Amino acid sequence: MSVHYKELGLENTREMFKKAMAGKYAIPAYNFNNMEQLQAIIQACAETGSPVILQVSSGARKYANQTLLRYMAQGAVQFARELGGKFPIAVHLDHGDTFELCKDCIDMGFSSVMIDASHHSFDENIALTKKVVDYAHQFDVTVEAELGVLAGIEDEVVAEESTYTRPEEVIEFVERTGCDSLAISIGTSHGAFKFTPEQCTQDENGKMVPPPLKFDVLEEIEKKLPGFPIVLHGSSSVPRDLVDLINVNGGVLKKAIGIPEEQLRKAATSAVCKINIDSDGRLAMTAAVRKVFNDSPEAFDPRKYLGPAREALKELYKHKINNVLGSANQY
Ligand code: G3H
Ligand code: 13P
Ligand code: ZN
Repeated sequence: MSVHYKELGLENTREMFKKAMAGKYAIPAYNFNNMEQLQAIIQACAETGSPVILQVSSGARKYANQTLLRYMAQGAVQFARELGGKFPIAVHLDHGDTFELCKDCIDMGFSSVMIDASHHSFDENIALTKKVVDYAHQFDVTVEAELGVLAGIEDEVVAEESTYTRPEEVIEFVERTGCDSLAISIGTSHGAFKFTPEQCTQDENGKMVPPPLKFDVLEEIEKKLPGFPIVLHGSSSVPRDLVDLINVNGGVLKKAIGIPEEQLRKAATSAVCKINIDSDGRLAMTAAVRKVFNDSPEAFDPRKYLGPAREALKELYKHKINNVLGSANQY
């Protein structure tokens, strides 16, 4: 059964990005796979008044069931309004790898899709992206494309090495595809292990400081595409306190290192209009669940551990909105 996203109360990302560009902030793009994550996102956005992009990967669709997810997204809008939140909500396919997957999501009510053909050749990337754009725009669905390759796992797409986006390619790419936003590679990567300790220096407190993002590449891209929305994937910061909490409660997450929040704050004031965060949420939930299991080994009601996990997630999301993305009360 096909449904258009407007019938679900969703919005595409066009207006959101226009305002984010003018207001020098970035929209949070938070991934969800289950009810507690979705509740935490909506509650955080209702409490801060932040617009939001709810991201669904193809792995999430397989995990949660695509039909259930579509109704959860619809329910999320109603839940937000019940909480008194009037903020705009987009539902976005994260790292779509085929035309068929993108079409399926559009037909099921997604308001935005990403076609990630960044691992293909330049011309193949353009051809596949354009095919998705031509279909999506018939329904006023916005399309994110990617140029340059991020290291790490991108759902079905795995890359060992990152390749920075080449500024000299972006104008041709955007003109020929008609995409609405562009994900670029400037040193972020997916997952909780973005850098090896050998790539980092240590500050006076012994904290690992990774190499800075390539702001020179971002600036060059901004010059070539003035006013065009840029997207940063792989933007979890891997907070030390969460990793420590996991490790003291039986976890083994050694050497997890992310992107420092100050760098993401700086990026959010540029043409970067959307910042993707998934791994930090996973860490927040895992830390909370591990702590409950360690402190209360007798607990077996899932609400006893998923409730605290949801609360920790909500606080993390609010922190990102208030202190990193700058998207509070922006709609
Ligand atoms: O970039 C990937 C996202 O974090 C989604 O991850 O494919 O494991 O759902 P996933
Ligand atoms: P992280 O793994 O850094 O959270 O990135 C998530 C992401 O880019 C989703 O598309
Ligand atoms: Zn990503």
